[in-house]
Amino acid sequence: MKVTIFGTGYVGLVTGTCLADMGHHVMCVDIDEQKITNLRNGVIPIYEPGLESLVKTNVANGQLCFTANAEEGVAHAEIQFIAVGTPPDEDGSADLKYVLAVARSIASHMQSHKVIVNKSTVPVGTADKVSALVSQVLAARSSPLGFDVVSNPEFLKEGAAVNDCMKPDRIVIGSQSAHAISVMKELYAPFNRNHDRMIVMDVRSSELTKYAANCMLATKISFMNEMANLAERLGADIEQVRLGIGSDPRIGYHFIYPGCGYGGSCFPKDVQALIQTADSIGFDSAILKAVETINERQKSVLVNRVQQHFGADLQGKTFALWGLSFKPNTDDMREAPARVVMEALWLAGAKVQAFDPEAMEETQRIYGQRADLVLCGTKEAALKDADALIICTEWKNFRAPDFDSLKQTLRHAVIFDGRNLYDPDVVRRYGFTYYAIGRGDSIKTY
Ligand SMILES: NC(=O)c1ccc[n+]([C@@H]2O[C@H](COP(=O)([O-])OP(=O)(O)OC[C@H]3O[C@@H](n4cnc5c(N)ncnc54)[C@H](O)[C@@H]3O)[C@@H](O)[C@H]2O)c1
Repeated sequence: MKVTIFGTGYVGLVTGTCLADMGHHVMCVDIDEQKITNLRNGVIPIYEPGLESLVKTNVANGQLCFTANAEEGVAHAEIQFIAVGTPPDEDGSADLKYVLAVARSIASHMQSHKVIVNKSTVPVGTADKVSALVSQVLAARSSPLGFDVVSNPEFLKEGAAVNDCMKPDRIVIGSQSAHAISVMKELYAPFNRNHDRMIVMDVRSSELTKYAANCMLATKISFMNEMANLAERLGADIEQVRLGIGSDPRIGYHFIYPGCGYGGSCFPKDVQALIQTADSIGFDSAILKAVETINERQKSVLVNRVQQHFGADLQGKTFALWGLSFKPNTDDMREAPARVVMEALWLAGAKVQAFDPEAMEETQRIYGQRADLVLCGTKEAALKDADALIICTEWKNFRAPDFDSLKQTLRHAVIFDGRNLYDPDVVRRYGFTYYAIGRGDSIKTY
């Protein structure tokens, strides 16, 4: 089948590439001409395991192509995906301007029936807004053309996006149009060979499903961070508690890791957007508000510890920072806890020597050149002449460091671990002062 995808970011590029790899003919459209030129030259704008080779193979096979020309994209296929960003507006609600711009563009250029598939994360009611806009533009063109609007939220995880897209847990389709549903079934048939993963529902339920999923996950994280804060004040160890509760199959081990807060392009904005949606209909979403408040507080836990240890004024201090991306296996720095940590350290007068396996370029792009930030080529280089080590992201490469050399290199044997990577007893044996999240005895100085 022929498919057009508007928006060539994490979602659009990964979805387009996976659809192409299954044999569909995919055209990816983006307004960022530089991105399109780069993609045509084999330069992939994001780091996502397995993506680069898949893009190159499918471009070479003629299954995947890129354009900045919206008209060309609209003409290419009946199926038109919208996979553009939905960033938070000033009040936290999802800003639909990019989604509606694409809808307008499709309506202005279409010369035949279209199935418009919304893959962006959008508030309940957006499909109705897209339908109204397309109808309005077609009416202005005096065009009798028909169209369907389908909701098809994306559940991929950055860092595992290709795998998630190739082997989805579920494919949610929101539509009541028999034609659109059958088109979507045919499109996704190659992903359903093992068993049917498609869940068809009404459009509003589909739109809400995406928010409910992300808000549930964010709630799990904030819940564990709340327990971690309690644990350390009560002299308990959250890692023991985690094992104790995870063994209950009703709770499970997934996604109950305490840490220095969630970040990324989705959880923070989706929690805020659903709070805003609830507020707009006069419903006070107490849980979601608490989830957000706890997360904001959690992002400051590491720096609070640093200042408890070294004093509020950090002039003349240098900190090694391991992990900049909001989670491992991505270079995405959007809402990353590391940013809050770095900015607070700078505010208190400290310097940062940072290392991340993938997010260094992105850090440079965001912060530019500044005297209080040194990006180091290795995790070991970041330690040189640093007063202490701070860990913000649980990259595998950080899990088993050489503690002897770490201790010799740092000015003080102090680790602030925002991801609970180490066994406090082991780190203590090496002579470190070890601050972790929610570990009763870890907040003592050994
Ligand atoms: N990143 C994720 O892990 C993830 C997962 C699930 C859902 N989502 C949702 O998917 C949507 C896209 O997210 P993303 O992370 O891929 O965004 P992104 O910012 O990485 O990419 C969006 C792309 O859309 C392009 N764009 C903007 N306006 C356009 C237009 N008029 N025509 C063509 N292209 C246009 C931008 O130039 C950009 O390249 C969001 O709603 C997001 O919430 C993201």
